[in-house]
Amino acid sequence: MFDCILDSAATTEALGARLAGALTPGCVIYLHGELGAGKTTLARGLIQALGHHGTVKSPTYTLVEPYQLGEWRLFHWDLYRLVDPGELEFLGLRDQFDGQAVLLIEWPERGRGELPAPDVEVTLSYAGEGRAGQLEAASAAGRRLLARLGYEGPLNLTGTA
Ligand SMILES: Nc1ncnc2c1ncn2[C@@H]1O[C@H](COP(=O)(O)OP(=O)(O)O)[C@@H](O)[C@H]1O
Ligand SMILES: [Mg+2]
Repeated sequence: MFDCILDSAATTEALGARLAGALTPGCVIYLHGELGAGKTTLARGLIQALGHHGTVKSPTYTLVEPYQLGEWRLFHWDLYRLVDPGELEFLGLRDQFDGQAVLLIEWPERGRGELPAPDVEVTLSYAGEGRAGQLEAASAAGRRLLARLGYEGPLNLTGTA
């Protein structure tokens, strides 16, 4: 498990970029945290680090935004407005469990029962003016991913923005 201090939005993006560098196909990342905690900001950093140049829209209303970035296929979900997890089937979620697509899922607790198990769970929380981040592996692939981020002590991203 890693803890990090995220002292600015740019630092949250930097954490996302750092995760992008350690990603493997098929990774499922849950993004936990209350409204405004920085989940979309982290997703933006990750998606841009994979080579996306345009804006990264929050999928608040569309529920999902798909990306094809070179070899990477990625789906960014935001389940905040999901009423019934059963809807996810109609949105094509199951077709995305193919071992290749990367899934970034905000508000995974709202899709309970319909989602693939996570490899990594990220929890963002308010900490003064900034945020705190906690990264936990939830599978063998997730442990390898976190190991690639660096084993040695807590990730300290403060000031790397
Ligand atoms: N580490 C941070 N410190 C301060 N503000 C941050 C940090 N990370 C993100 N923010 C800001 O918090 C606001 C909400 O971020 P957002 O990513 O949309 O949250 P969420 O998706 O969790 O609701 C944005 O204005 C963003 O720039
Ligand atoms: Mg969001």
